[in-house]
Amino acid sequence: MKVRPEQVAIVTGASAGIGAATAAALARRGVHVALAARRAERLETLAASLQERWSVRTLVLPTDMAQRSQIERMVQATLAHFGRIDILINNAGLGLQGDVTQLDETQLRYLFDVNVFGPLFAIQSVAPIMAEQGGGVIVNVSSILGKIAVPSLGMVGASAGYTASKFALGAFSTAARMELAAQKVHVITVLPGITATEFDESFLLSQTARARPARRRVGLLGRTPATRVGERIVEAIEREEREVYITGKDRLAVLGATALPGLWEWGLMRLRWWRMADKARWLRMGALILSTGTVGIALAVGVAKRIPRRLA
Ligand SMILES: NC(=O)c1ccc[n+]([C@@H]2O[C@H](COP(=O)([O-])OP(=O)(O)OC[C@H]3O[C@@H](n4cnc5c(N)ncnc54)[C@H](OP(=O)(O)O)[C@@H]3O)[C@@H](O)[C@H]2O)c1
Repeated sequence: MKVRPEQVAIVTGASAGIGAATAAALARRGVHVALAARRAERLETLAASLQERWSVRTLVLPTDMAQRSQIERMVQATLAHFGRIDILINNAGLGLQGDVTQLDETQLRYLFDVNVFGPLFAIQSVAPIMAEQGGGVIVNVSSILGKIAVPSLGMVGASAGYTASKFALGAFSTAARMELAAQKVHVITVLPGITATEFDESFLLSQTARARPARRRVGLLGRTPATRVGERIVEAIEREEREVYITGKDRLAVLGATALPGLWEWGLMRLRWWRMADKARWLRMGALILSTGTVGIALAVGVAKRIPRRLA
């Protein structure tokens, strides 16, 4: 679908990161945007800047994606305000840290409410409106971890619960694409890798997970700017793509993990061991081994030098 001025988009999770960047990328093309998230003041600030910069109309919709009634209200308010809905960006989401055996039920259910049921209810609310209008595009922001599962790796929000939620969202997204094609509603799954956003500051922490300060993930894949993801999402809408990777490295990671699953798991198990290890203890032990080794070598060299002198 060509992205044109005067179209209308709903962007969930628009108060930060990928959502804010996608709203800006759409507004740059003249699309009017309904901005949804819980932090209304952030949405107001973004709305004001998009209006001023791109002269688009905006609608601020404080919405908790864990509440079905609020999602339905978000969709109805957008329709009432703009008279149509062309694009839904199902982006709001969060992470969860914790091992499978320790996941807290309440947190896991909340995670699924926001990452899975929220987008699902949004699809259910907009699809009939788009079908009636003669078409539209729904974008579901999943993750490369919607294709490959990772274990808990220390203080990052991308562990078992998160990957399970993104696998579920991916399944709904793929099935909806096939089911809604006849009504000209196109469904896209976006699979970002590590992106520079506030994601690592806001993930849920399982109570039994080790309380360490969150660390910014850098990792082998680097961090992609959120603006790149936003622009790529708009490009994918225009090209009516099915599944969208942001970088070649993300695609390669998924390809590698699916082609060589045994090697992938072996590597992740070692990474987990290293990340979960008490680093201070390992460093102390390393220093001890190093210093003992150095003293040992120095002694051996000294003794070796004296022996020939004594024999002479
Ligand atoms: N960052 C990454 O490395 C990465 C990688 C792959 C996929 N993703 C996915 O990208 C999407 C956006 O994440 P991000 O990286 O941009 O993270 P972010 O900067 O933390 O933004 C998350 C957004 O989701 C919203 N949100 C969270 N819980 C919500 C709720 N209950 N109701 C309504 N909105 C809620 C937040 O708004 P409020 O707090 O104001 O409600 C915020 O706008 C997520 O689905 C995430 O899983 C991220």
